[in-house]
Amino acid sequence: MSIPNADSLAPHAMMPKVTHDEAAEQMFVADLKTFISREIEPGQAALMDAKVIPEMTKRLGRAPKDHIEVRGAMEKEIDYQSWAALVRTAQEMMWDSAGTCVDRQIDELKSLTEVENPKGSLTLDPNFKVPKYIDAMDIHCMPGNYHAVVGENDVRQGALFDRAAAIYHMGRNGGYMNDIRGHTVMSHFFHRWPEKKVDRLLDIGCTVGHSTVAVASYFPKAEAHAIDVGAGLLRYAWARAEHVGVGIHFSQQNAEQTNFPDNTFDLVYSSAVLHETSRKALPRIMAECRRVLKPGGVVIHLEVPGHYSTLDTWGRIRGDYEILYNNEPFWRGALSTDFKGLVEQAGFKDVQSGYQDATAKAKAGEGAFRETSLGVHRSWFIVSAVK
Ligand SMILES: C[S@@+](CC[C@H](N)C(=O)[O-])C[C@H]1O[C@@H](n2cnc3c(N)ncnc32)[C@H](O)[C@@H]1O
Repeated sequence: MSIPNADSLAPHAMMPKVTHDEAAEQMFVADLKTFISREIEPGQAALMDAKVIPEMTKRLGRAPKDHIEVRGAMEKEIDYQSWAALVRTAQEMMWDSAGTCVDRQIDELKSLTEVENPKGSLTLDPNFKVPKYIDAMDIHCMPGNYHAVVGENDVRQGALFDRAAAIYHMGRNGGYMNDIRGHTVMSHFFHRWPEKKVDRLLDIGCTVGHSTVAVASYFPKAEAHAIDVGAGLLRYAWARAEHVGVGIHFSQQNAEQTNFPDNTFDLVYSSAVLHETSRKALPRIMAECRRVLKPGGVVIHLEVPGHYSTLDTWGRIRGDYEILYNNEPFWRGALSTDFKGLVEQAGFKDVQSGYQDATAKAKAGEGAFRETSLGVHRSWFIVSAVK
């Protein structure tokens, strides 16, 4: 990542500001991540093809059974061990560098949640029970996960996630606004339903509202709602949206069972949420999306690209890394789930799935919806349908 100007490092009031040294540290981590993925990771696939698989085949007298067997052999290679340790270390450095920067200014960030004449709202549930599949481990190794709360009027996990997200994506999801996925949801919406009117919309699993703000900005008169599981996360998300001038109604709710009445929304969507839920939760979430949609309403789920069936041996081993060392326990399950089938089973009609070209600004008539992925961050898997 090259050194951006000061505004692009903190493009809205809630984004934790960086000192010179913090900026240098965070950009170093972003560069380290980029270096590992561009320069070191390709060598792992090469090592596997040129050495590990041929040696296994010779030793076993047959080709390896599956990628798990190959992974076992790769794990004995010092090269692979070094790569895996570097990826994990860079991830820990990312959270650490963002965390110290957030903690230095946490009181100021909390004071920014005193917004005069807010356009949206924040509804927290003191009795909310975080689903086990989120609570079980710190997803992405983020210390405190999505839902830790530190003191009164807390915003820490939201600030931490926001400060780190651009580093995590190595700048490829819309810089510090991190909103390309939201615009990509809209590109798909315009592709399929260019004439559809949206009066009420719901984002499930909004985190800090990166995609919520992007989608809501296309419907300035609509009532926009967003739900997630963490109180501090949502307080930050709400304040962030207010400071960028978009009114959104955030509430602490489980997407499996919300308190919205039947037939409420014209558009319900999720962005990169399904791969973080359990196999049991998925059909419940699909059914809940259908319940709260109006007849004729539209559901869109955006997910990580690369279905298991399309991944080669290295792609599968790389996917396993996320499960084993980045606390993404449902990664393989999600990548092998038939999302289209799940949406159909929930009773939706006109179900389509494919890959929507990523965009920083959605426009009707632009952005292809393809059968195959263009690659990570260049297109996103989408399944969409009508109630
Ligand atoms: C990778 S983040 C999503 C990012 C966000 N949608 C975006 O596009 O920027 C996954 C989010 O889904 C939320 N989530 C997962 N399962 C959920 C559930 N059952 N109910 C509400 N939120 C959920 C998590 O708490 C987390 O904030």
